[in-house]
Amino acid sequence: MLFLEVRGMKASGRIWLDGALVPWDEARIHVASHVVHYGSSVFEGIRAYQTPGGPAVFCLGQHVRRLLDSCRIFRMTPSYSGDDLTRAILETVRVNGHGDCYIRRVVFRGVESLSVDHRRCPLHVAVITFEWGRYLGEEAIEHGVDVMISSWRRVAPDTLPGMGKIGGNYVNSAFVIMEAVDNGYVEGIALDVQGYLSEGSGENLFLVRDGVVYTPPLAASILRGITRGVITTLCRDAGVEVREMTIPREMLYIADEAFFTGTAAEITPIRSVDRQPVGPGRRGPLTEQLQERFFGITSGRLPDTHCWLTPVRDAI
Ligand SMILES: Cc1ncc(COP(=O)(O)O)c(C=O)c1O
Repeated sequence: MLFLEVRGMKASGRIWLDGALVPWDEARIHVASHVVHYGSSVFEGIRAYQTPGGPAVFCLGQHVRRLLDSCRIFRMTPSYSGDDLTRAILETVRVNGHGDCYIRRVVFRGVESLSVDHRRCPLHVAVITFEWGRYLGEEAIEHGVDVMISSWRRVAPDTLPGMGKIGGNYVNSAFVIMEAVDNGYVEGIALDVQGYLSEGSGENLFLVRDGVVYTPPLAASILRGITRGVITTLCRDAGVEVREMTIPREMLYIADEAFFTGTAAEITPIRSVDRQPVGPGRRGPLTEQLQERFFGITSGRLPDTHCWLTPVRDAI
């Protein structure tokens, strides 16, 4: 497959748009589209990994379900079923000849009205695939990242629906990561409205203390991350206790290990917070063990005992 370098993106040949596979350059929308003005979209980020049996999509069923959940939350009714969307994803990865790739699926409002109530506008659906390496930097998986606690809070539960992966919600995430980058960090961690730990701009947060793994609850305005669920399962497989609970900020300063999880970030160690090293200031042993399991399964080196991988050849 020949990838086109489109402004820093390793773009693929075709994009699935409203039922047809069209060339990358032809997958366009009008400037009067509702989504351009008000962020009226829901989306999913998914990864496919190269395995000895060909490329396979990770947690495909869960991503399709969360997209449909987001549609329900935001009162969108796409004319495609979950099965249609599943086929569209597999077909797009296959047609573009990908090995490892990132898949962005988006449902968005088009042109009809610029009333803030988006429900009269037509719905469009796209599946975009491209090559995307390590989201938080090539070195990050091994060496970890330096992060800060953001001065921006996550939205209150009655401000925006955190469980919906809605385009407009990501304005909050943009403020978190822009502040972090401007201050020389790779990422920011937002607190919830009560001042407890919530999550990164695009990742869930875990920390480890005395062999127990802690992660903030849904009530802390987090996205219910699919990788977060995978990590919880891998911990339980390994006999490691996971406590989902309200966590004060200072737990990060006394943690033995901390890491982010997400489809884009995969499992990224956090080596310092607010310039204070986490544990000895490098990737911890449990983080490394979880990475070993995670990347072992996604690469097909270890058995996929939880059936997380869907081979792309199933699209044929
Ligand atoms: C705000 C936010 N939190 C957490 C995550 C991690 O979720 P997942 O593991 O489903 O990719 C993401 C990425 O989608 C995100 O955008």
